[in-house]
Amino acid sequence: MTSPLKVAVTGAAGQIGYSLLFRLASGALLGQDRPIQLQLLEIEPALKALEGVVMELDDCAFPTLAGVEIGADAEKVFDGVNLALLVGARPRGPGMERSDLLEANGAIFTAQGKALNAVAADDVRIGVTGNPANTNALIAMSNAPDIPAERFSALTRLDHNRAISQLAAKTGAPVTDIKKMTIWGNHSATQYPDLFHAEVGGKIAADVVNDQEWLENDFIPTVAKRGAAIIDARGSSSAASAASATIDAARDWLLGSAEGDWVSMAVRSDGSYDVPEGLIYSFPVVTKDGNWEIVEGLDINEFSRAKMDATAAELTEERDAVKGLGLI
Ligand code: NAI
Repeated sequence: MTSPLKVAVTGAAGQIGYSLLFRLASGALLGQDRPIQLQLLEIEPALKALEGVVMELDDCAFPTLAGVEIGADAEKVFDGVNLALLVGARPRGPGMERSDLLEANGAIFTAQGKALNAVAADDVRIGVTGNPANTNALIAMSNAPDIPAERFSALTRLDHNRAISQLAAKTGAPVTDIKKMTIWGNHSATQYPDLFHAEVGGKIAADVVNDQEWLENDFIPTVAKRGAAIIDARGSSSAASAASATIDAARDWLLGSAEGDWVSMAVRSDGSYDVPEGLIYSFPVVTKDGNWEIVEGLDINEFSRAKMDATAAELTEERDAVKGLGLI
């Protein structure tokens, strides 16, 4: 066995954490040949609950779990981490304005960006799941000047997986026949799941479906509002699927996306597809050995262009708001 990969998880005592930690520990990220060491960050009041989760992790006796450390001090918990999964975030409380939410999360992601900058391993990769994920990633990135910007990403893989599942249900194809799905933009209701490049059994999905009305008024809103539908049905938010997507995204980033396919990741825009440079925007990317590259040269039709611009406009507004608050 090689040396363990040090993986930090924030918000580890939360709902997503309760699913994520057990899958990470059982080898879902890197398989059975590479142990992982978990370094778990929580706020002080949640540390007792986290101790209980660690007792359960112990009780699983996972062969791939090399050790677990917990704490409330980011500089200690992030020490030497190779992968940081930033899940913990401040949810929107009753009466909380959008700017309050950005400010509360701004404080969290500013501090965590600085701590990662100071103590993470040289090869660290940082995936942000906590919402508003794209803008939280932008804040962390802006506060970690010594970590290359391409090491930060925000999670749109759950949206990507949701889009695959909806398309599979509509066409009757197995999910394994669906390739080249893309989520463009923000992990929010303005995201754009694109069927003009996705393929079903090698054919363009929009042609296979051949139903623009479904695509516009059913598929896109179902994917974009899936989180709310799950809260409605389950009484709490999507946690297991978010944990699963967090692992999918990290695994593909570290080990590589499948040949002949791509994945969706929100990464720093270099201006590709006329997306304003510097936004953390979800693109189609291929990944290999811990690096990603935006898939270039896709034809963008008028319908897609309008959707891609709308989600970019929302991210630009979020960026301006956090700039106004002095967070970036
Ligand atoms: P949760 O509320 O159950 O857990 C969040 C945890 O974060 C809590 O235990 C809390 O104590 C902790 N936390 C808060 N501030 C912290 C800090 N400064 N440092 C460390 N820990 C801190 O929430 P849940 O369901 O686990 O979701 C976590 C986040 O993931 C939320 O922001 C949620 O909106 C987001 N999410 C993102 C998805 C995506 O696709 N990008 C999908 C689903 C959820």
